[in-house]
Amino acid sequence: MSETAGVETLRWVGDAAAGWLRLIDQTRLPTELVEVDCLDVERVWCAIKALQVRGAPAIGVAAGYGAVIGARAAGLSDPGTVRHALEAAADRLATSRPTAVNLFWALDRMRAAARRQAATGLELLENLLAEARLIDAEDRAMCRAIGQHGSALLRPGDGVLTHCNAGGLATADYGTALAVIFSAHAQGKPLRVYADETRPLLQGARLTAWELAKRRIPVTLICDNMAAQVMREGRINLVVVGADRIAANGDVANKIGTYGVALLARAHQIPFYVAAPSSTFDLALAEGAGIPIEQRDPREITHGFGRQTAPEGVDVYNPAFDVTPAELIAGIITENGIISPVTHAAIAASLRPALERVADPSFDC
Ligand code: MRU
Repeated sequence: MSETAGVETLRWVGDAAAGWLRLIDQTRLPTELVEVDCLDVERVWCAIKALQVRGAPAIGVAAGYGAVIGARAAGLSDPGTVRHALEAAADRLATSRPTAVNLFWALDRMRAAARRQAATGLELLENLLAEARLIDAEDRAMCRAIGQHGSALLRPGDGVLTHCNAGGLATADYGTALAVIFSAHAQGKPLRVYADETRPLLQGARLTAWELAKRRIPVTLICDNMAAQVMREGRINLVVVGADRIAANGDVANKIGTYGVALLARAHQIPFYVAAPSSTFDLALAEGAGIPIEQRDPREITHGFGRQTAPEGVDVYNPAFDVTPAELIAGIITENGIISPVTHAAIAASLRPALERVADPSFDC
């Protein structure tokens, strides 16, 4: 992320044989900007599980690099050993978080890369690092394109509401929902962003407000339960959020609370947009009801940020995501353009070029 003076959301350090994954520990923001080094698969798994790295695209990129680290765990004696270790690492990383499909998409790419021909264990490992770097680079490019397409939706003076964090911290760089705002801001359009704080882990307060302030984009932080009032007061012209998984019919899983925001937007006749790269679509799922929703530790609600705020032992329900039905979504902004209206056919048509590339056996990344 350029606004962090050379500190990037995540990056690979060193070569394939001895390098490692370095990432910003997002649990320490906004008060401390510190990086952590992940030198083994377990450390990458923990970083994803504990939300040190989070946001669907960033989780995918981290998993790609994590698979490289795991692939060399049993030594580089021959390609078979490296392939075996890669599979074990991918299986382990796939258990870290269930909802963001980018995790599984990236691990599938790493498994496919491991099946390609290599003369030595080291050559295979270098191929794997090249694939992980490609996932990283593609994510950066997709985010820039999303920003460019989505910026056309914003007019000078608009008020924009967003939920959770879909910024540079949630991707390799630049973000998805925030990319739309960054891009419009860069075009000279004055905007005011309203950031939901996003209970229980406060990604909106800790991360979105931080990213916007760093870029000197006017931002107003609100508690999640203030969105209806802010809309009624006429402060919001458009809502834009990210996504963790999008089903074939356009139903969108995103941070818990997103569905409520979409309902509020509909009630106030405010367009509600989702911004996400093609890597966040799961076309194997017909509709959002099939998306696995992560359940997280009750203590995130009862003991958030080190202070007990509920009686000991109280029953807690803590789903980390919800599903917004396609009919509430005005459009989905991808690297290919804006899908609107959001229908099964429009999604298939928009993603077809990417799907054909994957299906074409002559296409080799
Ligand atoms: O639990 P998190 O912080 O990983 O949830 C993140 C979100 O819900 C984001 O909105 C989503 O991953 C899109 S990030 C570009």
